[in-house]
Amino acid sequence: MSQLPQHTPSHLAPNYNPLPVTIATAEGSWVTDTSGRRYFDALAGYSALNFGHRHPALIEAARRQMDRVTLTSRAFNQELLEPFAAACAALADMDMILPMNTGAEAVESALKAARRHAYTLRGIAPADGVIIVAEGNFHGRTTTIISFSSDPTAREGFGPYTPGFITVPYGDIDALTAAVRAAAGKLVAVLLEPIQGEAGVIVPPDEYLPGARRLTADAHALLILDEIQSGLGRVGYTFAAQRVGVVPDLMTLGKALGGGIVPVSVVAGRADVLGLFSPGSHGSTFGGNPLACAIGLAVIDLLRTGHYQARARELGQRVHARLDTFVAEGLLVGKRGVGLWAGLDIDPRRGTGRQFCEYLMDFGVLAKDTHGSTVRLAPPLSSTDDDIEFLLERLEAALHGFV
Ligand SMILES: Cc1ncc(COP(=O)(O)O)c(C=O)c1O
Repeated sequence: MSQLPQHTPSHLAPNYNPLPVTIATAEGSWVTDTSGRRYFDALAGYSALNFGHRHPALIEAARRQMDRVTLTSRAFNQELLEPFAAACAALADMDMILPMNTGAEAVESALKAARRHAYTLRGIAPADGVIIVAEGNFHGRTTTIISFSSDPTAREGFGPYTPGFITVPYGDIDALTAAVRAAAGKLVAVLLEPIQGEAGVIVPPDEYLPGARRLTADAHALLILDEIQSGLGRVGYTFAAQRVGVVPDLMTLGKALGGGIVPVSVVAGRADVLGLFSPGSHGSTFGGNPLACAIGLAVIDLLRTGHYQARARELGQRVHARLDTFVAEGLLVGKRGVGLWAGLDIDPRRGTGRQFCEYLMDFGVLAKDTHGSTVRLAPPLSSTDDDIEFLLERLEAALHGFV
C-alpha cells in the first residue's frame, strides 16, 4: 500500500494560518474535531456565534425558510424583507436599514452613504471630503477599508489606496478634537469601533464616544459606529455604544446577525442619510435575501428577550474577576475587556499569543491570538455556567504550564 504524502498540496490561497485543528461538528459552545476530540470554542467565530453553534431556534428558522424560498435578488420583492428591515431598524432605534452580506460591505456602504450625504446635503465638494478613522482600526478587507488600516500586514502591497481618510489615535479625545477642527467645513464623518476588537479588545475611556458624538454633531458631520463585533449582546448591551449612552447617525451590524449560519450585515441609520440612495446607486445580489432575513429575524427575536445581554454581563463579571486574579498572580501581564469579551496579555518572554493558543488546545480550548502576545476570548453568550468554569479552569492550568 502506498504511503499517503505528509503534506498534500493545498488548493487554498494562503491568506490564513489556522490552528492545527479540523472541526467536523459543533453544538452550543463546543466543537468536535475529525478525530472525535472536543474543544470549548472561546472565539465563537469572532462573535459571529454569539448564540452558540447551531442554536435550535436559528436552525429551525433557516430550515423553514429553505423549504419556501432562499433567493430572489432585489430585482423582485420577497415577503420577509420589509419585516426584517422594520425589526432591525426597531432594534437599532433607527429609521431604516440597508441590507448587505459581509461586515466589510456594510462598512463600505456606510462610507458611501456618508459621502453622498455630505456632498448632496451639506455642499462639501467630493474632492475635499474627509473621514476621520482611528489607529488600530479593523473594519474589513476591501481596498478602501485597508487604505486606512494602520496594520502593515493588512495594507502593504495593495495600493494605490483610496484617499479621503485621516487617522487619529484611538481613545484620545484631544486628538479627535484637533482633527475635527482641522477638517472644519469638509468633515464627512468620524468612523469608530465602540471597542476595538481586532486591536486586542481595547475599551476607550468612558467619555470618548460621548465626546465623539458632541464633536460630530457640532460639525454637522456623521458619527458612524461599527458594531459588527461589539454589537448584538457581546458586551452586555444590544450595542456597545449603549454602555455610554451614545446614539450614532449610522451603525454597521454583521457577524452575529447571521446567527453563525449565513453572512448577514446591515447599515442602520437615519432616513435623511440612507434615504439618499437611489435605485441603481448601490446594491448586492444576496443582500437582504429571504434566508438571511429569516435568520436575521430569528436573531432579533433572541435579542429582544434581553437574555443574552444579561448572560454576557453575568458571565463577563465572572470571567473578568478571575482574569484579575490571574493578573494579580503574575500569570498574565494585563487584561482588558467588558461583558463576555476579553483581551489577555501573555508575558512576551514566555511566548507569543499564537504559541499560547496552540498550547491551550491541549487543554481543550480554542482561542485566537491577535497582535503579538494578546489572546482574545469571546465565548458564545449561550455558554452555561459550567462551560465558563471549564474555560477558566483550563485557562488557569495552561497559564501555569506555559513557559
Ligand atoms: C469591527 C469589524 N468591522 C468589520 C469587520 C469585517 O467583517 P467581515 O469579515 O464580515 O467582512 C470585522 C471583522 O472582524 C470587524 O470586527
